[in-house]
Amino acid sequence: MSNIVSYDERVKNFSWKIAEDELDYKPGQPINIGWYCSDRICQMGKGDKYALLWENAMGVEKKYTYNDLRLTSNTIGHFLRSVGIEAEDRVCIFLERIPELYLSFVGILKIGAIAQPLFSAFGEESLFIRLENAGTKAIITQRKHLGKVRKIVDKLPNLKHIIVVDHDGKKELMDNEVVFSLETATPVEDLKIHPTVAESPSVLHYTSGTTGQPKGVKHVHYSLISQYLTTKWVLDLQDDDIYWCTADPGWVTGTSYGIIGPFSMGVTQCVLEAGFSAEAWYKFIEKYKISMWYSAPTAIRSLMKAGEEIIKKFNLSSLRHLASVGEPLNSEAVIWSERVLGMPFYDTYWQTETGSMILCNYPGMKVKPGSMGKPFPGITAAILDIKTFEPVAQGVVGLIGLKPDWPALMRTYWANEETFKKKFENGWYLPGDRARIDSDGYYWFVGRDDDVINTGGHLVSPFEVESALLEHEAVAESAVVSKPDEINMEVVKAFVTLKPGFEANDDTELLIMNFIRKKLSPLAMPQEIEFIEKLPKTRSGKIMRRILHAQEWGEEIGDTSTLEDD
Ligand code: PRX
Repeated sequence: MSNIVSYDERVKNFSWKIAEDELDYKPGQPINIGWYCSDRICQMGKGDKYALLWENAMGVEKKYTYNDLRLTSNTIGHFLRSVGIEAEDRVCIFLERIPELYLSFVGILKIGAIAQPLFSAFGEESLFIRLENAGTKAIITQRKHLGKVRKIVDKLPNLKHIIVVDHDGKKELMDNEVVFSLETATPVEDLKIHPTVAESPSVLHYTSGTTGQPKGVKHVHYSLISQYLTTKWVLDLQDDDIYWCTADPGWVTGTSYGIIGPFSMGVTQCVLEAGFSAEAWYKFIEKYKISMWYSAPTAIRSLMKAGEEIIKKFNLSSLRHLASVGEPLNSEAVIWSERVLGMPFYDTYWQTETGSMILCNYPGMKVKPGSMGKPFPGITAAILDIKTFEPVAQGVVGLIGLKPDWPALMRTYWANEETFKKKFENGWYLPGDRARIDSDGYYWFVGRDDDVINTGGHLVSPFEVESALLEHEAVAESAVVSKPDEINMEVVKAFVTLKPGFEANDDTELLIMNFIRKKLSPLAMPQEIEFIEKLPKTRSGKIMRRILHAQEWGEEIGDTSTLEDD
């Protein structure tokens, strides 16, 4: 039986107190996500149950029970305190999806510090911007990524500790670099949990906007209330489930539902630390008998492309519930999974700022392929007019608006209160997406309300890529837009004018692409660079991305009256 008995009943009788009661939390008392994810589960008698089953591309396996999770996170928390980390200090986790990532996240929260997970494939510039903005005090990393940190550390006066979790003694360490190894550290049985309260900061996730640098989304410990209940009702996790969330904790899905949700419910979860391959993924499901699987449209489209023959080689009968997030889940993907896996992917819509799921399809509710579903009970959502911010009639496209009253909504953008305030209009929080509601109350995604590129579920700011392009010696001017892509839905495309003396050819294109990959990340790297003589600009000199975007998507160009003359 699913955890959500009836959607309509839940909406009628809803109160966040349901989650507070299940978590034995009383307003005003301390609440610490790290403790909830480990110590509490052990106190409930589940210490011997597996919390994390981990495997990498080479087939190396590691297993951690809830008691192991409690002890290792204690040990990491104790170590961080011993080097001088205090409550509310930002501690960046710059690790591949190795066990230390998950364990240190819990450890950081236990001592009241703020976990700042960053995608390990970020290049030095992407890393620098985020560490500088957060005033990060310590970074936990591995040998492989130490070089990037060393390149920027001199420009980061607040960064006092670089903690290396897999030091093999070969490379000499610098002054501010220390070794921490879970294998050799003495396990800490008792750690004083910092008495964080509801509004104490917990996690800082970075997300991209259209203009300006990435924004640090500040979450608090009380977010657990939403994360726990959405995990229970939407992902429908149950005690004997084996859960797999494919997201990297460098992004919010990988923390809200790849750490906090499942661990706070005491469920066993699996992590595959390897790149995508349909064969490896199906094998993983078969081997670990995954029953609940939370993934993303790009991965699903890649599986569809790999074909149906390959599926027949594996026994996937353990699967009982599937969900998706991050980008529009096209109806073909839902229909495909119904046919091939025997059940649909349940789409969920939310974002870094919302901290937990907002619009969802629930077990037991009819799935309309292509729709994002309905608001989670306790979420008041509407479609708003783009000018007046008043609710529009059913069926009309407008901005998604949310009453800002659920526990996991971000509390601010780090050191950027001004931009935070701009996210609210007429009493509504605006996620920045357009949608419509059908006559059954289902929400249908229409598009983003800005120029941010969503490539394979990851947001890329055209502004950031344009700024980085300008740092290349050959680039005079640049404009970055999205272009359609079969698997990733959209990818980054750059239009570039060259400086005199540089030739528009494949070599130059490759050099610039690589430059961006190393500086920012493989995701932000343009998949195509088109060299042009002149960028379309307004008479006041602003680049008209809109025209280039329309050209890529084969859309009407629209009003060009402000375009400068030749
Ligand atoms: O535009 C929406 C899109 O992804 C944005 C949020 O991205 P991010 O903060 O990186 O968080 C992603 C994972 C929670 C949204 O503003 N998006 C997310 N889910 C969906 C979606 N677009 C369409 N359908 C979805 N289910």
